[in-house]
Amino acid sequence: MEGAFCSWMILGLAVMIGVGAPGAEAARAFFVFGDSLVDNGNNNYLATTARADSPPYGIDYPSHRPTGRFSNGLNIPDLISEAIGSEPTLPYLDPELNGENLLVGANFASAGIGILNDTGVQFINIIRIPQQLQFFQQYQQRVAALVGVEQAQQLVNNALVLITLGGNDFVNNYYLVPFSARSRQFSLPDYVVYLISEYRKILARLYELGARRVLVTGTGPLGCVPAELAQRSRNGECVPELQRAAALFNPQLIQMLNGLNDEIGSDVFVAANAQQMSLDFINSPQRYGFVTSKVACCGQGPYNGLGLCTVASNLCPNRDIYAFWDPFHPSERASRLIVRQILTGDTKYMNPMNLSTIMALDSRT
Ligand SMILES: *[C@@H]1O[C@H](CO)[C@@H](O)[C@H](O)[C@H]1NC(C)=O
Ligand SMILES: *[C@@H]1O[C@H](CO)[C@@H](O)[C@H](O)[C@H]1NC(C)=O
Repeated sequence: MEGAFCSWMILGLAVMIGVGAPGAEAARAFFVFGDSLVDNGNNNYLATTARADSPPYGIDYPSHRPTGRFSNGLNIPDLISEAIGSEPTLPYLDPELNGENLLVGANFASAGIGILNDTGVQFINIIRIPQQLQFFQQYQQRVAALVGVEQAQQLVNNALVLITLGGNDFVNNYYLVPFSARSRQFSLPDYVVYLISEYRKILARLYELGARRVLVTGTGPLGCVPAELAQRSRNGECVPELQRAAALFNPQLIQMLNGLNDEIGSDVFVAANAQQMSLDFINSPQRYGFVTSKVACCGQGPYNGLGLCTVASNLCPNRDIYAFWDPFHPSERASRLIVRQILTGDTKYMNPMNLSTIMALDSRT
C-alpha cells in the first residue's frame, strides 16, 4: 500500500515538472554500439559487403523498404526505443542526424564488427569499435555545441546505452575458416579469456565517455542459427563447438560486468542473457507461435541457411511464424520476445536487474 502511494507521488511530481517546464523532459537519450544485430543502417554509407539495404530486408518495416536493419521489420534497438518512449535512433552516419535529432541519441553500430579489430576483415570497410567510440566522442562535441557542455554531459549520463558484441569474434574470426590465425594462436577457452579482457577495456572506455546505464547482451546460441545448421550440422542439431563457445563466453561476460560494477561502486553494466532468451523459442518454437526455429524465412539451401538473403532467395509469406529472418538474424517477432525479457525478465535473463527496474530506479533520481 505504502509503495503504491509512493509511486503515485512520484508520478504526480513527474507530471508537474513536465507541465512546469515544457520541452525540458524529452525522453531519455539512447545510444547503441555493436554489430549487425543492432546496426540501424550505418553500413549503408560504407563500401562493404555487410549490408541490408536491398529487398526483401525491411519488407515489414513501416515504410516496407530496406533501411539497413538486418530484419524483416524492426530490430532490437527499435523495440527498446519503443519501450522507453523514444524515437528510433538514427545511424550516426545518416545526414539527418543533426540539430534536435541529436538529442534522441545515436546508433553507432556496424554490421560485421567484433570485440577484436581483426574480426570481420573480409567486410573491409566497417566501423570497428574504437571508431564507434571515437564517433561517440565526436557526437558529444556536436551536442555540446548545440545545448552547452553541461547539458550535453547530462544527456549522456542520463542516457540508456546498448552494446552487442562477440558473436562475430567467433563466426567471422575464430571459426571463419579452418585453421584460422586466431584458432592457431588460442585454444577456445584461452580465446574467450582474451575476448573478455578486450571487451572489459571497451566497456571501461564507454564509462569514461560518460555512459552510466549500459545493457550488455551476451552472444546468442551461435551454433543454432540456420547458417551454422546449413554448414556444420549433421542432423539439424545445434553445432556443439559453437554452443561451447557461447557457453564459455556468456558466464565470463557476466562475471566481468560484476567486477566492473564493483570497481565503479554502482550497477552501471547490466547483462542481458541473449542466449537463454533465444534458447527458449529455439527449443520450443511452437510454444512461442513459430512453425520452425531452424529454417530461416529468407535464404537458400539447407535451412535457407546458405549465402545472403536477396530478391532471388526463398521468402516465407508470413514472417511472424519464423524465429529467424535470415541465416543469422532474428525476425521482428523473435526480437520482440527478446526485448520483452530485457524489459521484465527475472534474474535468469537479466543481471542484476531488468530494464523496467532500471527505468523505475532512474526516474527517481
Ligand atoms: C584496435 O585498433 C585501435 C586503433 O584503431 C587501437 O588503438 C587498439 O589498440 C587496437 N586493439 C587491439 C586489441 O589491438
Ligand atoms: C523485472 O520486472 C518485473 C516487472 O516488470 C518485476 O516484477 C521483477 O521483479 C523484475 N525482475 C528483476 C530481477 O529485476
